[in-house]
Amino acid sequence: MKIMLLAFCLGVILNAADDATLPAGKKAEQQACVACHSTRIIESQRLSPAAWKKEMAKMIGWGAVVPNQEILLDYLTTEFNDSKPVPSPEHSKSK
Ligand code: HEC
Repeated sequence: MKIMLLAFCLGVILNAADDATLPAGKKAEQQACVACHSTRIIESQRLSPAAWKKEMAKMIGWGAVVPNQEILLDYLTTEFNDSKPVPSPEHSKSK
């Protein structure tokens, strides 16, 4: 019984930590980029760092407010760069 209680508490703690441990770049994305479209249109891209920079500038030109530009650019160029495989159609459909 005690073990179950412990496991429950641990679960609650880990769950609460989940949001706090979201990468800073992901948070910046959610903060700056979802006003007009979902993150899917962003995360299904595979772009070079230069192209991400241009893409972000384009979105800012269209009205995106990006308080953490460096953090976001770092996140986009690391996670969704053109050396990574493109996501499968199933993946892009389900989100
Ligand atoms: C002011 C509204 C707005 C905001 C905020 C915004 N976007 Fe967009 N974004 C658009 C529009 C409009 C399109 C193109 C329309 C479509 O196809 O749905 C688009 C499309 C895109 C695309 C697909 C390629 C392209 O250029 O069409 C990417 C990648 C993208 N946005 C990235 C971002 C990122 C990264 C952010 C956050 C920094 C962001 N967007 C914030 C309006 C916005």
